[in-house]
Amino acid sequence: RQWREGPWDLMRYAPAGGYGPLRQALSDYLGSVRSVRSTAAQVIMTTGIHQGIDVTIRLLCDPGDTVWIEEPAYWGVRNLLASAGLKLVPLPVDDEGLGLGEIEHSRPPRLIVVAPSHQYPLGMVMSLARRRMLLDYARQHACWILEDDYDSEFRYGSRPLPSLQGMDEDGCVLYAGSFSKTLCPGLRVGFLVVPEALAAAFANAVAELYREGNMMTHAVLAEFIREDHLGSHIRRVRRRYAERRACLIEEIHRHFGDTLEIVGDDAGLHLILALPDGVDDIMVERDALQQGGVVTRPLSTYYMDRAHARPGLLLGYAGATPDEIRPAFEALARVIRRYV
Ligand SMILES: Cc1ncc(COP(=O)(O)O)c(C=O)c1O
Repeated sequence: RQWREGPWDLMRYAPAGGYGPLRQALSDYLGSVRSVRSTAAQVIMTTGIHQGIDVTIRLLCDPGDTVWIEEPAYWGVRNLLASAGLKLVPLPVDDEGLGLGEIEHSRPPRLIVVAPSHQYPLGMVMSLARRRMLLDYARQHACWILEDDYDSEFRYGSRPLPSLQGMDEDGCVLYAGSFSKTLCPGLRVGFLVVPEALAAAFANAVAELYREGNMMTHAVLAEFIREDHLGSHIRRVRRRYAERRACLIEEIHRHFGDTLEIVGDDAGLHLILALPDGVDDIMVERDALQQGGVVTRPLSTYYMDRAHARPGLLLGYAGATPDEIRPAFEALARVIRRYV
């Protein structure tokens, strides 16, 4: 429809920050589903969370600055920060998410990167008390917080807590989102919601560094959101992913009873199957692939401090039907049994 009806404007360079109607549609959508507080001008289109973090580092950090990250964390974020010459300080997460307990006396960082809605890879939700603590800390010490909200649409039990950005009264949170999990990563469309005072600088920076992305895709997405196709797609796949998750958990219990812990909240596109201390999860992953044809990820590789890493396997279930999950887990279970 877009190609037939209105292509000419969409063939020019986009305005700084991206296609206006998409920024407005996202501002409205995020306000209603994630309690994100923004105007369209604060929404900056990116090609995904990676680019959102890249531009954040370029504008707000200098090489040598300290950045706090969760331990364990997504390797993609870790690599981005390290390649910009930043000093990474990993802070352990517990059941309530990132803890600030041990850092009372250390120097405040320039930036704190967190995934409070669904910690990656362990999958817990940051408690309200911790969120308040983190926001207070950032305000008192003038640090920026980057909130990575990569998959919060997929919760199967309870409703998600509102975003950290929605609780921020001081303009210190930058919210990074993406269509990589809600639609598909090949689309390469994501967004940042930045504090009002930073909006013009971020729009210009994205325009000058990378250009604002593909306007035709932006225009289609704007309509897709406005006509509630995104909402209905998410509602539909959420049911499907919940079934797949339940099927995987059932298989785990059928093969191992309660002997192996399943880590994480009832949410997301993957779960963590913890392995007993001392098991080399990298070997398990290798054997699972070579002998069982099953792709997994070793949990230990998500830690900066490998000596204190917890062994386990990250198992993605969203892309596999129950009929594919059952034989795959059977093959995986044969490999795991040799190690536990
Ligand atoms: C925690 C986390 N953040 C960000 C991303 C990547 O986001 P994008 O594809 O939008 O760059 C991923 C991808 O797996 C992820 O797991």
